[in-house]
Amino acid sequence: MSYSFRDDRYDKMQYRRTGNSGLLLPAVSLGLWHNFGDIDNQETAREILRLAFDKGITHFDLANNYGPPPGSAEENFGKIFKQDFAAYRDELIISSKAGWGMWPGPYGDHGSKKYLVASMDQSLKRMGLDYVDIFYHHRPDPATPLEETMRTLDLFVRQGKALYVGISSYNPGETEAAVKMLREMGTPCLIHQPKYSMFERWVEDGLLDVLKKEGVGCICFSPLAQGLLSNKYLKGIPEGSRALSHRGNGAIDETAITPEKIAKVVKLNELAKKRNQNLAQLALAWVLRHDAVTSVLIGVSKPEQVTDSIACLENLSFSDTELNEIDQILKN
Ligand SMILES: NC(=O)c1ccc[n+]([C@@H]2O[C@H](COP(=O)([O-])OP(=O)(O)OC[C@H]3O[C@@H](n4cnc5c(N)ncnc54)[C@H](OP(=O)(O)O)[C@@H]3O)[C@@H](O)[C@H]2O)c1
Repeated sequence: MSYSFRDDRYDKMQYRRTGNSGLLLPAVSLGLWHNFGDIDNQETAREILRLAFDKGITHFDLANNYGPPPGSAEENFGKIFKQDFAAYRDELIISSKAGWGMWPGPYGDHGSKKYLVASMDQSLKRMGLDYVDIFYHHRPDPATPLEETMRTLDLFVRQGKALYVGISSYNPGETEAAVKMLREMGTPCLIHQPKYSMFERWVEDGLLDVLKKEGVGCICFSPLAQGLLSNKYLKGIPEGSRALSHRGNGAIDETAITPEKIAKVVKLNELAKKRNQNLAQLALAWVLRHDAVTSVLIGVSKPEQVTDSIACLENLSFSDTELNEIDQILKN
């Protein structure tokens, strides 16, 4: 028998409009980059997904290469989807991406039509889906003509394999060019997925302005700087944390937990307490404060982290004094 989700699952989550589109996304979305691969506990993975949806998280974000091994997060998600979520397909926004290295040879990476078309079909097969709601080009590829990549995104929408398309980690100039091209093709760019946290503020140098001007949504990844912006590293690196997981593929490691970073984290933690939040909640609320931001894309290793992180929604407003204090802590 399939799992029965809570009737009150939509009562507390906030839903925000994605740019100028008709699509609402939850203010907190769940990513499956880590913790859903073959090396991970599948019962925990299933519990996380169930709890997330029970809390109103309607959006699950994947990519061809999530695992490890690459592809296994989509496969494992597909199994859980079939068991628990198949009856709820119309209540879910499922995304995938291609753009990083996925298989050997010249056709398993970057932005060519050859790679993207094959990758899309592989992703749909692994997840057991007829379509994804959002398909992203995962990173810019300066060696492929932008038109080839954008035409392929447009093709997916025309084929019904994706309802919407997006781009990830494109800089402001690349974003403007991609948005314009997609608009001319009749397939608007729904959303951009950049890295944004108190420790990584590059989007403030033009990208957020472009997204607002163009009416494109924004879903920010690694808003906790992979866990650093929480209370977990205050007293050293704890067992079981991502920094000790040696997962590779961009995962945070011990070298990122510097005394300078921890000194900032300690100060931010004090400020969070004054707001009756913990640091993770402060960090998520801070990203969500920006009116160009549609959603924060969190990762979790334990179900409790879903509940804890969502509680950021209880206090999303910042005084100018608090914002200045945060800027000062981050600058020093
Ligand atoms: N487009 C791209 O290129 C790109 C790149 C990276 C990520 N993403 C997307 O963004 C998603 C999120 O990225 P991320 O996992 O780096 O996000 P994150 O939210 O910054 O970091 C997640 C980690 O933070 C810790 N954590 C989460 N909630 C916590 C809480 N309430 N209290 C204390 N610690 C907490 C956990 O670490 P422990 O595991 O140590 O418990 C968790 O694994 C990915 O799954 C993926 O969908 C996209």
